[in-house]
Amino acid sequence: MINHKRIGCEKLRAKVMSAEEAVSTFIASGNTIGMSGFTGSGYPKAVPLALAAKIEAEHAAGNPFRVSVWTGASTGPELDGALARANGVEFRLPYNSDPIARDKINRGEMNYFDMHLSQVAPVAWQGFLGPLDVAVIEIVGIHEDGSLIPSSSVGNNKTWLDRASRIILEVNSWQNPALEGMHDIYYGTALPPNRVPIPLIRADDRIGQTTFRCDPEKVVAVIETDSPDRNLPFTPPDEVAKRIANHLLDFFAHEVKRGRLPENLLPLQSGVGNIANAVLSGLLDGPFENMTAYTEVIQDGMLDLLDCGKLRMASATAFSLSPDAAVALNANMERYRDKMILRPQEISNHPEVIRRLGCLAMNGLIEADIYGNVNSTHVMGSRIQNGIGGSGDFARNAYVSIFVTPSTAKGGKISAIVPQVSHVDHINQDVQVIVTEHGLADLRGLSPKQKAAVIIENCAHPDFRPALADYFRRAKEHSYGLHSPSLLDEALSWHQRFVKTGTMHDTGA
Ligand code: COA
Repeated sequence: MINHKRIGCEKLRAKVMSAEEAVSTFIASGNTIGMSGFTGSGYPKAVPLALAAKIEAEHAAGNPFRVSVWTGASTGPELDGALARANGVEFRLPYNSDPIARDKINRGEMNYFDMHLSQVAPVAWQGFLGPLDVAVIEIVGIHEDGSLIPSSSVGNNKTWLDRASRIILEVNSWQNPALEGMHDIYYGTALPPNRVPIPLIRADDRIGQTTFRCDPEKVVAVIETDSPDRNLPFTPPDEVAKRIANHLLDFFAHEVKRGRLPENLLPLQSGVGNIANAVLSGLLDGPFENMTAYTEVIQDGMLDLLDCGKLRMASATAFSLSPDAAVALNANMERYRDKMILRPQEISNHPEVIRRLGCLAMNGLIEADIYGNVNSTHVMGSRIQNGIGGSGDFARNAYVSIFVTPSTAKGGKISAIVPQVSHVDHINQDVQVIVTEHGLADLRGLSPKQKAAVIIENCAHPDFRPALADYFRRAKEHSYGLHSPSLLDEALSWHQRFVKTGTMHDTGA
């Protein structure tokens, strides 16, 4: 139910209007809009839909109307899906997982700037992204003094509120008011040379305030909404995911035994996607207690770990929950308030903090090559899947940087282990462990040729392993140099074969 009481500031209560009115009065073609939202949480639910309708009407009347959209990361279908369907987005950053928007990007109909999520706010402050005309931010409520209670994601909202010329607020009554107090909004991120160290020493440290500052003079409209966050459900872990999780659990146990990790491990970071969520589910049955998480998003698996007490607390920038888990969390928010901290993504993903805390980073990949270089973003080197997201922030700075993947994709037609990646997101120096259902390759301390041997032997699917071993053997005989042996005319031939024939298997076609 719409709840006017959530708007404590008299001045802003006078600015309540419909989303349609806000759009037609305050958003023009060519504007750059900073929206809230990080995965399917905390994104505005009404203004993007009204904007999409306006764009469609303008296009029907023969008028051009497109905007640039900045967010925290991916968002819900009411934002990315609706605006992409209306063909209304000229430029998008910094991450997208919406299928309609992905299609537009891959057809060359939408410009997309895929970037490290920790760098979005600093780059905006440095001025490289140009001016921000409007901020559209979902919040839980407004205090009497005009400060804002953040919603289920923080993302880049602090920066959008500070940088935008005009602000449109969506006060969402669906969000539980008990979210208040869960956030930690840090305002100490001046650009160099005025930069100071981030005073965050442990994952559960609080270094900021629970609300956003907001200049009420810049707020041009307040919209009241009452709609749920929408994420896709996770698929339950299948046999492949369970085997990946088991290899990783064995690895952690081995590292503890060797004295290289403490018994409660180090702060966990878990990436997006089904495999990452399955690994968290695996930890439910593992021996580790009193764990912490310093991560980007809190998924279902992390809620389960909090529920059973194995995870003591989780720090992130957003929830990324299946519809059922989102409803369950929203109904029981008080129970979690002391166990979770939501921070700006500039802090949740900050290299300085990740390195200091010694995070255990676990991220998905599209493909890895025999030397340990990882492609997280581009299918066959040219089609963007989602984006690099926070994987680069964590992989380069983690205590152990782990990548998890099934050994094949598309029903076995594609090998996730290839002679050479068709696009590089994570150079081999940032990739320390690769895990597939067939095994785990610990690459720490290995030369390129040693890495290749262990990746082929431990991680490749048996159907592709002989071809990889054959490539590696011939590369060692004929390569121009023998440090990272490569056959230049063959290194990307597996991809070319897939593009031509629909499979990486050499069928002689
Ligand atoms: N070639 C072609 N397609 C591939 C592929 C490959 N080598 N590997 C995966 N895919 C496809 C899958 O087939 C699937 O497609 P579908 O949705 O049409 O079925 C899709 O990519 C997702 O793969 P899936 O195996 O379900 O894994 P996932 O959900 O764990 O996602 C990534 C894997 C790499 C796409 C995902 O982890 C990602 O976007 N990573 C980059 C961002 C990131 O790491 N963020 C976390 C930082 S905190």
